[in-house]
Amino acid sequence: MSSPAARAPDLQPGVCAELRGVYKQFDGNPVLEGVDLAVREGEITVVIGGSGSGKTTTMRVLLGLETYDAGSARLLGQEVGELRAAEHAALMMRVGSLFQFGALFDSMTVAENVGFALHYVQHRPADEIRGLVRENLMMVGLKDIEHLYPAQLSGGMRKRVALARAIAHQPEILFVDEPTTGLDPVMKETIVELILQMRDRLGVSVLCITHDLAAAFRIADHVAMVYQGKVVASGTPGEVRESEHPAVRQFVGGRSYGPIDP
Ligand SMILES: Nc1ncnc2c1ncn2[C@@H]1O[C@H](COP(=O)(O)OP(=O)(O)O)[C@@H](O)[C@H]1O
Ligand SMILES: [Mg+2]
Repeated sequence: MSSPAARAPDLQPGVCAELRGVYKQFDGNPVLEGVDLAVREGEITVVIGGSGSGKTTTMRVLLGLETYDAGSARLLGQEVGELRAAEHAALMMRVGSLFQFGALFDSMTVAENVGFALHYVQHRPADEIRGLVRENLMMVGLKDIEHLYPAQLSGGMRKRVALARAIAHQPEILFVDEPTTGLDPVMKETIVELILQMRDRLGVSVLCITHDLAAAFRIADHVAMVYQGKVVASGTPGEVRESEHPAVRQFVGGRSYGPIDP
C-alpha cells in the first residue's frame, strides 16, 4: 500500500500553481524558509517584498529553474522537482515568462523573437507564425515593427515585445518578474494595463513579482508579501493593506523605519 504522506499533495481546485513549505538556501544562506503561495486560475497573484527578499527565487523554484531543499512546488498539476528534462520542457510550453533581465535575442528581428517558440518548439508553418506574431504584437499595441531589431526599439517597446513573446504560444500561466522596473510612469501604466488585458482577454493566470507597490495594488486580485523567507501577509489588496505585520506596515507605508533594513 502506498503511503499518501509520501506523495506530493494535489493542487486545490482552482489553483494552478502552488508552493507549500518551500525551503531553499544558497551556499548555506537561507533564502526561502517555508514559503506557502497559491496562484489561482484566471487571477493575477502579485508577490511583493523588499530587494533580496527572495521573490525571484520563489518564481524560479515554481518554474523548476531552481532546486528546492524541502517542501512542495506544484505547477499545472506537476511537482516540478520530480520532472525529467523532457517533461519539464513540455511543461514550459504551457507557461509564459518575462524575466526582469530576460532580454530579447539581439541578433533576431522582432518577428523572430515573438515567433521563437512557435517556430523552434511548435514547428508551425511560416504563414501561420506571421499571423500569430502580428496578432500578439497588436495585443501589446505594436504594429509593423516585425522587421526591426531590439537595438532599434525603445526600452518600453522592448518590454512590450518581450510580453508578446511570452504569450505568443498561448500559455495557461504567465510569470512576470518586475515588469515595470526602470520604465517611465506612462510606460509603467501601459504595462499594467496590458497585464490586466491578458487576464481579461486571454483568461491567463498570472504570477507577478514586483517591488513596485503602486503597480502591485493596481493589478492584483491577490497579494502575498515575502519577508525573511516567508509569506507574512496574503489576501486581497485591501486585506494586505490592513495587515498588522510590522514589516508589511513598513513596506506598504513606504517608511524607512521598521523591521526591514533599508
Ligand atoms: N544563484 C544564486 N546564488 C547565490 N545566491 C543567490 C542566487 N540567487 C539569489 N541569491 C540570493 O538570494 C537572495 C534572494 O534573491 P532574489 O530571489 O533574487 O530576491 P528578490 O527577487 O526579492 O530581490 C539574495 O540574497 C540573493 O543574493
Ligand atoms: Mg528579483
